[in-house]
Amino acid sequence: MIILGIETTCDETAAAVVERGDDGIGRILSNIVLSQINEHAAFGGVVPEIAARAHVEALDAIIASAMREAGVSFGMLDGIAAAAGPGLIGGVIVGLTTAKAIALVESKPLIAVNHLEAHALTARLTDATPFPYCLFLASGGHTQILGVRGVGDYVRLGGTVDDAIGEAFDKTAKLLGLGYPGGPLVEKEAAQGDPKRFALPRPMTGRRDADFSLSGLKTALRLEAQKIAPLSDQDVADLCASFQQAVSDVVMDRLRTGLRLFRERIGAPAALVCAGGVAANQAIRKVLHRIAFENGTDLVAPPPALCTDNGAMIAWAGAERLALGLTDTLDIAPRARWPLDEVTKSAANKTSPPAE
Ligand code: KG4
Ligand code: ZN
Repeated sequence: MIILGIETTCDETAAAVVERGDDGIGRILSNIVLSQINEHAAFGGVVPEIAARAHVEALDAIIASAMREAGVSFGMLDGIAAAAGPGLIGGVIVGLTTAKAIALVESKPLIAVNHLEAHALTARLTDATPFPYCLFLASGGHTQILGVRGVGDYVRLGGTVDDAIGEAFDKTAKLLGLGYPGGPLVEKEAAQGDPKRFALPRPMTGRRDADFSLSGLKTALRLEAQKIAPLSDQDVADLCASFQQAVSDVVMDRLRTGLRLFRERIGAPAALVCAGGVAANQAIRKVLHRIAFENGTDLVAPPPALCTDNGAMIAWAGAERLALGLTDTLDIAPRARWPLDEVTKSAANKTSPPAE
């Protein structure tokens, strides 16, 4: 089957065409991503209103390029998938409404995909990873540890109670005047810094659950920076190194606990899978390899372009759902909030999630 996928939940306008063989093997025919980073950079973060407008302006052309590059016509598609949430509601409306229009005009099935489910299933597109596996999703908007047992069958093992990890990197960069997005800039500074100079907290470590909290770490960093202001270049590098070390230690502890919970509730994982921009960080990547090794399993890290937001993951999740007969009606509502454990229920009884 051939599926068009549309992604507009945050600051990337993306469309892709993906083919899924009867054997369940996926092939990306096209994957076009337009980043809005330049439009948001001046504000140090994503501005929802600017994002929604930029999606409206770009989406039609992005879909046209994805179709052209794949060499398929709308008539050849087996379904149209769009991220229906969670995300910035203005953007979600743009993508979902466009998908509905194509589905209506072409009389094709619509698949309203949960953005987190799409991240969760990407390892099956890139590596044909079998169920069950443990997913560590860490981006600017999400930080979750998930048990992935099957399509529409997710167990939330841990998540953040405040900021996402990427968001904490971005706020640290903003505080230190480094720019946006902050993750890669903080990592670069950290390489020149002393990770032991500042004694920052490791929030939530040692707890029995696998939850994260990043906001206290961010505050502690701000206080340390204020104490020694004005900051020299070396001060900035040392603050970045100390911050990155604290985050890596937290990820190590929380993921170790997450995998223990996975074993208790689900069994042995077939893999540890990572997704989201934060997994590009080399210090964090090292931690992920170590945790996978400790658990006698492999780390599956899809290529960066498929770890960050893209249309191929939406198309693929649409294909996996369509293969199980899970489609949605044209009255399905976009959702700003849509926890993955609610996808489990909607998949089981094939009803649309309620509007919020
Ligand atoms: O998955 P992603 O591209 O987009 C969404 O948030 O949906 O993730 C972007 C986030 C940003 O917060 C960025 O600062 C962070 O991932 N990030 C990093 C690194 N590269 C990107 N964080 C730490 N180290 C990095 N090298
Ligand atoms: Zn995402």
